[in-house]
Amino acid sequence: MARIFITGGSGFVGAAIVERLAQRGDDVAAFDIVEGPQLKTLRARYSNIAFFPGELTEWSQLAEAMKAFRADAVVHCAAVVGILNGASSRLWTMRVNVEGSLNVLSAMRLCDVPRMINLSSEEVYGTFSANRIDETHPCFPVKTYGISKFATEQLSRDFAEENGIEVIHIRTCWVYGPGLPRPRIPKTFVDAAVEGRSLHLEGGAEYRVDQVYIDDLTDGLIAALDHQAHRHDVYHISTGEAPTLGQMVDWIREIVPDADVSISSGPYQVGPGVVAVRKGALDCDRACRAFGYKPKFTLRDGLAACVAARRQVLADA
Ligand SMILES: NC(=O)c1ccc[n+]([C@@H]2O[C@H](COP(=O)([O-])OP(=O)(O)OC[C@H]3O[C@@H](n4cnc5c(N)ncnc54)[C@H](O)[C@@H]3O)[C@@H](O)[C@H]2O)c1
Repeated sequence: MARIFITGGSGFVGAAIVERLAQRGDDVAAFDIVEGPQLKTLRARYSNIAFFPGELTEWSQLAEAMKAFRADAVVHCAAVVGILNGASSRLWTMRVNVEGSLNVLSAMRLCDVPRMINLSSEEVYGTFSANRIDETHPCFPVKTYGISKFATEQLSRDFAEENGIEVIHIRTCWVYGPGLPRPRIPKTFVDAAVEGRSLHLEGGAEYRVDQVYIDDLTDGLIAALDHQAHRHDVYHISTGEAPTLGQMVDWIREIVPDADVSISSGPYQVGPGVVAVRKGALDCDRACRAFGYKPKFTLRDGLAACVAARRQVLADA
């Protein structure tokens, strides 16, 4: 049984990790600005989850929580997430993601916490140079969000070396699954299909991106957390495949035959006027060799699971 401190424990990925660790009997601290509905439900179910309200940029809140909990390791999920959020508040994104991460590392040093698993992103690469890349691909992030994630990786390498803290960076790609609390692909298409609404997206049918189901990501994160003596400090946890968004929409139409959802050819836009850079698949062989990570969900399997979960939510409502 371990004691794990999870920043961003109210978020989509953080709450999923909180749940998995609590299920297996670890003592878990969830540090976040807010206690969202998912974390509230989990705390009602498991007595081994503590909630620490706090702000990453407020050193004293973080340090007090870390002192009170006495963790064996940190899983660092809290961040301003996504290209559009990054663009709408560049300074705040850098403060939370970079300064906030340094605060977490400093609090770990203060409390002798030896290990961190840091959630990083495929955005650190900028434009992919191939359809499938491994962790040695050069990092030239082009958007504030990716720049902040890469700065965090590099600063923590510097900090870790000087302070004897192990920091393992997990670069993942688009994470999806039931419970995603915001409208984004593929949730937008799945919800429209199940609810019988029409949805057409202008552009993006040929866009290739690796989309990983939340259960696979949590499997990989926990395997990385449990593994001792890492030979690398960065791993991909994703699927290793990048079907096009057009293929994704076709699969949704197969799973929900009367769905009126579609996507047209052309550049994929992250937001109005923001054309996405080339992406592709994240090769996960390193994580497979190091700690046996193997994704269980193809995108089609994950979409079917999302459809079933959405139908269940509607039936229970
Ligand atoms: N979701 C994805 O597709 C994806 C892809 C690649 C990487 N990631 C990374 O995974 C991690 C988790 O992402 P997510 O999808 O769960 O995002 P999320 O937005 O659902 O969760 C982030 C959590 O961090 C908390 N947070 C934000 N700012 C904070 C602050 N200043 N102080 C304290 N808490 C704060 C939020 O309240 C939220 O609960 C992030 O580091 C993100 O960069 C996510």
